[in-house]
Amino acid sequence: MPNQPLPAHQTLDHRTIEKYELGWLLISVVLVIMLFAGVLLSMVGETVPGLFGGKSSYIDPAKLNQSAFAVPGLKTAPDGSLDAYIVARAFQFQPNVLHVPAGRPVTMHMVAADVVHGLMLGQGNVNVELIPGQVSTFRATFNHPGTYTSQCHEYCGIGHQTMAFKLIVEVAK
Ligand code: CUA
Repeated sequence: MPNQPLPAHQTLDHRTIEKYELGWLLISVVLVIMLFAGVLLSMVGETVPGLFGGKSSYIDPAKLNQSAFAVPGLKTAPDGSLDAYIVARAFQFQPNVLHVPAGRPVTMHMVAADVVHGLMLGQGNVNVELIPGQVSTFRATFNHPGTYTSQCHEYCGIGHQTMAFKLIVEVAK
């Protein structure tokens, strides 16, 4: 019986449909506004200071030897906290082997000296784009002892494929 009208409780009159449409329209407008605000905030908060030399994150690549990057590697502060300094330059990471103790937070400071390089650390949940003059700083805790090899993942020139890095997470003593 294809032409029989649907029972009343199965039909929607146009006013009800318009209510639903209005609801979904509002939801999508809110999502668009959130997306716009998010992009704007991230530009103002991170990207812009990076591009125009925010004091805390910019370093003149020509003056790395006058900074903490002069002697790259892991450093222990007097209070016992750990800082690792890594410089990427064509075509090596300095240091190219970094030993860190397992389970202890390490503040990583990374920078490129010449062109853009990239590095993934540990099991892959740390992935940094290294931009000349832009210091990337983050804290990471490597919980699983082991040796993790990675490779520069931004094409940086003729020796790009030889630019390797090894992170050795050691059992804490
Ligand atoms: Cu460094 Cu590719």
